[in-house]
Amino acid sequence: MRRKGLKILMVTSEAAPFAKAGGLGDAVSSLANSLSSLGHDVRVLLPFYSVIPRDLRQNFHPLPGILSVHLGQEHWARLWEFSPPGRPCYYFIEYDQFFFRDRLYDGPYGGFEDNPQRFAFLCRAAIDLPEFLQWIPDVYHVHDWMAALVPIYLETVARHGPLAHTGSVLTIHNLQHQGYAHRSIIDYAGLPWELWQPDKMEACGGINFLKGGIYFANKLTTVSPTYAEEIRMPALGCGLEGVFRFRGGDLVGILNGIDQDLWNPAADPTLPANYDVDSLSGKNLCKMDFCRQRFNIKEAGSRPLFVAVSRLYSQKGLDVLANILPWVVETMDVRFAILGCGEWLLEEQLASIMRCFPGRIWFYRGYDETLAHRMIAAADFFVMPSRFEPCGLTQLYSMRYGALPIVRATGGLKDSVVSREQGVNRATGFVFCDLTHQALYNAIGWACATYYDCPDDMLTMQQNGMRRDFSWEQSSRRYLDCYHWAMEKKT
Ligand code: ADP
Ligand code: GLC
Repeated sequence: MRRKGLKILMVTSEAAPFAKAGGLGDAVSSLANSLSSLGHDVRVLLPFYSVIPRDLRQNFHPLPGILSVHLGQEHWARLWEFSPPGRPCYYFIEYDQFFFRDRLYDGPYGGFEDNPQRFAFLCRAAIDLPEFLQWIPDVYHVHDWMAALVPIYLETVARHGPLAHTGSVLTIHNLQHQGYAHRSIIDYAGLPWELWQPDKMEACGGINFLKGGIYFANKLTTVSPTYAEEIRMPALGCGLEGVFRFRGGDLVGILNGIDQDLWNPAADPTLPANYDVDSLSGKNLCKMDFCRQRFNIKEAGSRPLFVAVSRLYSQKGLDVLANILPWVVETMDVRFAILGCGEWLLEEQLASIMRCFPGRIWFYRGYDETLAHRMIAAADFFVMPSRFEPCGLTQLYSMRYGALPIVRATGGLKDSVVSREQGVNRATGFVFCDLTHQALYNAIGWACATYYDCPDDMLTMQQNGMRRDFSWEQSSRRYLDCYHWAMEKKT
């Protein structure tokens, strides 16, 4: 049966290339692109942050009129539109008191105190938007705690209005962040007080946005099948495992795809040389260029280059890598290059290790997308020893760029990387289980031995990864099934 094109409204705090702190922004916009190319009317609402690059902002157009946002008290905001032909339509809600800041979520002293108010505002704006546009979505697809109040509004104060038949799908990209607030947020958001109950939004005497969203969304997804199982158990359920078991029948794990045009070694304009699966000589030039610039050496081929590009937070397990790095470079003939920023102590640790091992370890403290592309292209191996990883995109990027991922068997890493022990004809990387110093050291040693002793296997594994299909093709169809299930619940 052929289904009609859907009207989908995505609500998100990030969308690449406008505003991104990590993979959430990549995932939302590449899924939106994929759904739009399948013929659906996809629109995306996000805040008009002052960090959106000026050259992108130049293409936004103001919508006529002012949106009134019906929180406990009415607020008024302007909307801007960016609607390139054949692509999703983006709406940016302007409210400088909340979104005119140097960063998306946090300052030097941690998360912004008014984050609950900022994202309650976004969610309520998403509820008021359809009438303003005279465009009623079939389904809301909302992402993480920042958009989790949308399903709650839909099932409470907006239950009988024009959105009465609109379904909701909540995708959890990272359960570590749940959106805790003082209970007074209920009045601020204009929500009813009966939500302040343990089987709704209440948590530890306050309010948990995500918990409420999980109770009320018509369908729940997370970004890999393994993570969808892991969060039902205490170790990775972050206190919500009981809620997931309660809603378990509606929870689906769908592996993220990637934007294969943006991440394409054969046409990536940021690289010094392009290459594809049939000829990797360009990759060697990328490695040579990188090693010359960052390690001040002329040759590239002799030693393996291990790379990590990451937010530096405990989730990513790079503290364990930092602890063993001196031991690794003293006992193995390898080079390490790391790009990242996050926890200050880890940044300091990596910076001081780099000073002790010049020419062998290089660390760049910061966020730099061009450099990320160049490092992944130059890498022989990509290290990602995450404590937990809902999906992970960088291991997908690295396989596409012929860098073999070394990953811990968790979440989307387990679902996307085929380990060497599965046989060289299928393998795309190295998978280890325990996040211990010894296990990570052994995995790096295993990769190093493959590089030096089995270059043919190495090439086969690189080609296996480069040939894998990481497009949204299949996953976006699974999201469409979820949208239809959600809509059925509202008919
Ligand atoms: P997460 O969202 O948990 O950070 P993902 O692997 O899903 O992990 O996505 C990370 C995204 O952020 C990728 O696009 C990666 O290239 C990018 N990224 C992370 N840290 C940096 C950095 N320091 N510089 C440039 N890009 C980065
Ligand atoms: C989160 C997760 C990451 C995932 C990304 C996109 O940031 O930490 O694993 O890839 O969202 O879904």
